[in-house]
Amino acid sequence: MENRTPLIAGNWKMYKTPTEAGEAARKLAGLVAGVTGVEAMVAPAFVAIPAVARALSGTEIALGAQNLHWEDQGAFTGECSAAMLKDAGCDYVIIGHSERRHLFGETDEAVNKKVRAALAHGLKPVLCVGETEGERDAGHTMDVLDVQVARGLDGLSITAESGLVVAYEPVWAIGTGRTATPDQAQEAHAHIREKLGQVLGKPLANSTRILYGGSVKPGNIAELMTEPDLDGALVGGASLDPASFADLVRFRAA
Ligand code: PGA
Repeated sequence: MENRTPLIAGNWKMYKTPTEAGEAARKLAGLVAGVTGVEAMVAPAFVAIPAVARALSGTEIALGAQNLHWEDQGAFTGECSAAMLKDAGCDYVIIGHSERRHLFGETDEAVNKKVRAALAHGLKPVLCVGETEGERDAGHTMDVLDVQVARGLDGLSITAESGLVVAYEPVWAIGTGRTATPDQAQEAHAHIREKLGQVLGKPLANSTRILYGGSVKPGNIAELMTEPDLDGALVGGASLDPASFADLVRFRAA
């Protein structure tokens, strides 16, 4: 069994002003101080990144962004580059979240360019993949995951130092209160790891963390994390309240 330190990542989406985000990060840091064996990360909105970076400075909690543009700079109104995020103190960047794919038309090709840009600037990519309800019902889940993983990572040179993280987020489980069962999640994670083995080679696939996302809460995280291929969680709703997020980070104590 590989030694993959679990990562509990909070995706704050378009919630929290900079002031609110800074306060929440400060509270979270106090609540999880001293927790070992688990890594925590929060990804606030772009505009709140400086406030959260200040609040987390000197703590063990990592900082992430929710998106990026693949160019370093240029006339791309409304966008933020990997270089900007790195300079602002980000360690991670979430790429290809289903809301980006489905609400903003992000393709696997765009996701691939974003992963490349993140790697080039030393940001750890959190590559999100997942099937819709229709795709699952039609029996296409594993094919969808194969395509998203293969295209997302196509042609990239990834090493252990890249810090790649993959997040499996079934679209039908995000923000719906419907969580994948531990068995469903494990089946998808094992499949993703198999596919990663083909793309990256087995040793790297075995050391890559695969997070589960979709209605993860303090009440269901411990059971999910008993599955061998679940290496943490990407959490939306339950990450917004610092006490609830801290309970998720302390899932082993639950
Ligand atoms: P949720 O969101 O925890 O609110 O379901 C997960 C996500 O979108 O990353």
